[in-house]
Amino acid sequence: MKVAILGSSGAIGAACVSEVNRRYPHAEVHTFSRQNDADYRVDYDDETTLKSAAEATFNGVPFDLVMVTTGVLHLGADIQPEKSLRDLSADKFHAIFAANTIFPALAAKHFLPLLHRDKRSVFAALSARVGSISDNRLGGWYAYRASKAALNMIIKNAAIEIERRHKQAIVVGLHPGTVDSDLSKPFQSNVQQNKLFTPAFSAASLLDVVDRLTLDDSGKCFAWDGQEIPA
Ligand SMILES: NC(=O)c1ccc[n+]([C@@H]2O[C@H](COP(=O)([O-])OP(=O)(O)OC[C@H]3O[C@@H](n4cnc5c(N)ncnc54)[C@H](OP(=O)(O)O)[C@@H]3O)[C@@H](O)[C@H]2O)c1
Repeated sequence: MKVAILGSSGAIGAACVSEVNRRYPHAEVHTFSRQNDADYRVDYDDETTLKSAAEATFNGVPFDLVMVTTGVLHLGADIQPEKSLRDLSADKFHAIFAANTIFPALAAKHFLPLLHRDKRSVFAALSARVGSISDNRLGGWYAYRASKAALNMIIKNAAIEIERRHKQAIVVGLHPGTVDSDLSKPFQSNVQQNKLFTPAFSAASLLDVVDRLTLDDSGKCFAWDGQEIPA
């Protein structure tokens, strides 16, 4: 089994690496991140680094599983989730879309062709329940919600395109639940204690979902408990 995990230094990304190693001790796991401890350094703003990393890791052997675990909700004091239209800015939109939509789309561009042509394989990107338009009851978090809704559209498009050449490839978005990480830290006070997952619990749940996916699921988004999240 050959696995790629992009964003392997994030809380959920690192937990996915551990869970894959625990579940599939013989798997060949390739990690990608900005950090030095990954197998491959990827600069999220420089597509050439992603392209070269994908090429370097391929070696003629297709992937069974590619997970994109990157994403941002806030970046320093200046880029925080917007409560109101008054808080919107072009800079915030650019930064959040670059991380949450454009990078996973480029990951799909470079990694989907590396999946098996004739054997079940999965490309999964971490999305978020708040990217569901029909589920939006609270408003706010404009750029983050919109970037994840756009990511869900990229996933649907890629699923349609890939099925022509990779007939058993499954492309999905995954919602990890609310997970204790730097990303969620400023917003954890409203979360019930038993609803705040450890990265390890979330990663194990997500890999259970991945294991159960079928071709009919391609193009959709699923939560950590396997429930489909409506668009
Ligand atoms: N935590 C939650 O409650 C929660 C809920 C719903 C959805 N999610 C989604 O789960 C994913 C992972 O979140 P997490 O909780 O593990 O967060 P985290 O611990 O803060 O990890 C963030 C990840 O994003 C990467 N990253 C940082 N800056 C980036 C940038 N500018 N562009 C692209 N990637 C960047 C990091 O890469 P490096 O490995 O290179 O450091 C790291 O892999 C995100 O997509 C998030 O939207 C999380």
